[in-house]
Amino acid sequence: MSDGNIVHVVGTGTIGEPLIGLLCDAREELGIDEVTFYKHTPNLIDRPKIKGLMNRGANLVAANDKIKDFQELGLEPMYEAEEAIKRASVVIDCTPKGTGLLNKERYYNKYKNKVKGFLAQGSEFGFGKMYAVGINDEAITKKDKFIHIVSCNTHNIAVLIKTLAIEGSKTSHLKEGKFLCIRRANDISQVKSFVPSPEISKHGDPDMGTHHARDVYHLYKTLGLELNVFSSALKINTQYMHSIWFDIKLTNKITQDEAIQRFLDNPKVAVTNKLSANLVFSYGRDHGHYGRILNQTVIVLPSIHVLNENEVIGFCFTPQDGNSLLSSISATERFLYPDTYKEQLKCLGPLLFQEV
Ligand SMILES: NC(=O)c1ccc[n+]([C@@H]2O[C@H](COP(=O)([O-])OP(=O)(O)OC[C@H]3O[C@@H](n4cnc5c(N)ncnc54)[C@H](OP(=O)(O)O)[C@@H]3O)[C@@H](O)[C@H]2O)c1
Repeated sequence: MSDGNIVHVVGTGTIGEPLIGLLCDAREELGIDEVTFYKHTPNLIDRPKIKGLMNRGANLVAANDKIKDFQELGLEPMYEAEEAIKRASVVIDCTPKGTGLLNKERYYNKYKNKVKGFLAQGSEFGFGKMYAVGINDEAITKKDKFIHIVSCNTHNIAVLIKTLAIEGSKTSHLKEGKFLCIRRANDISQVKSFVPSPEISKHGDPDMGTHHARDVYHLYKTLGLELNVFSSALKINTQYMHSIWFDIKLTNKITQDEAIQRFLDNPKVAVTNKLSANLVFSYGRDHGHYGRILNQTVIVLPSIHVLNENEVIGFCFTPQDGNSLLSSISATERFLYPDTYKEQLKCLGPLLFQEV
């Protein structure tokens, strides 16, 4: 007998925790029967988080050799790691760089005929077809079992291009796009990897600079578009949001009012008149689900500037994990309800902001 729709999340970090929480809270509207989650390390400091997720209705999963350690913490795993993958309808991998690819080799490939689909997050380039909701929905087919949810800054750059330069899904008016990703050092939930001062990233890709533009290029390539994009990146010593400076040259003319109107008309874009990341971040903390802004970008309206009648320059903030959460749930619903997923996803509408 089928156990119904089971969504299994691997990892309970910055992205895994709010994802599990959102799946539990919207379980009924999303048509999910059970949410399970794999916790890697049994440690005391994570106990309240695990209890919180279990109280929301999610079932704990642990590796066989760690079950006793969890029990000693007073936490009872319901399933073993591989068993949880095997019985899932959809598996969402939210582990650090490289682990998703390893998990694919070790486990996911083994169960690909049983499980409807597998997702991995930003750092897992090569895991599967790239996806960002609202950008390349048409490119995802029922044959795609492995989906790579692109990174937060890739979402942001992709939606800037989509809003200003893409007509329908297949016509591009982009002449050239340049992007500077000004990244926060680490998330407020993380204690590692803070930087004491600005730290520059190397341009690893000879044509596109950092992975952000490269990923956007590949994301749009799933639609048959090959864009002229370049990105640079640096980390700064803050924990509040990434910011992006952009310079988008179009093949057509555009005015400042038209550019602003395009941002206002895109429901995945939030706009703000705030100039400080603190204020935007704290709006999300106060009004968002789990403190997250699920929009793909927050455009700073006073920064929007048009040069030479065809070049839009400005700043925006990246909702660093919110946009990936939205795409992860959208892709999950596509696996569970390939014909009616848009209906199910309507319940997330109220979690998107028009203005921050
Ligand atoms: N953070 C963001 O804002 C953000 C935004 C977009 C995309 N992403 C992407 O999301 C993914 C996860 O990032 P994150 O920031 O959420 O990472 P994170 O906060 O460091 O969390 C990683 C999680 O993976 C678990 N884990 C570690 N090693 C594992 C293993 N070998 N097997 C299974 N689980 C393991 C950890 O468990 P324990 O703690 O129990 O050891 C932890 O729960 C990355 O691909 C990242 O690029 C992150």
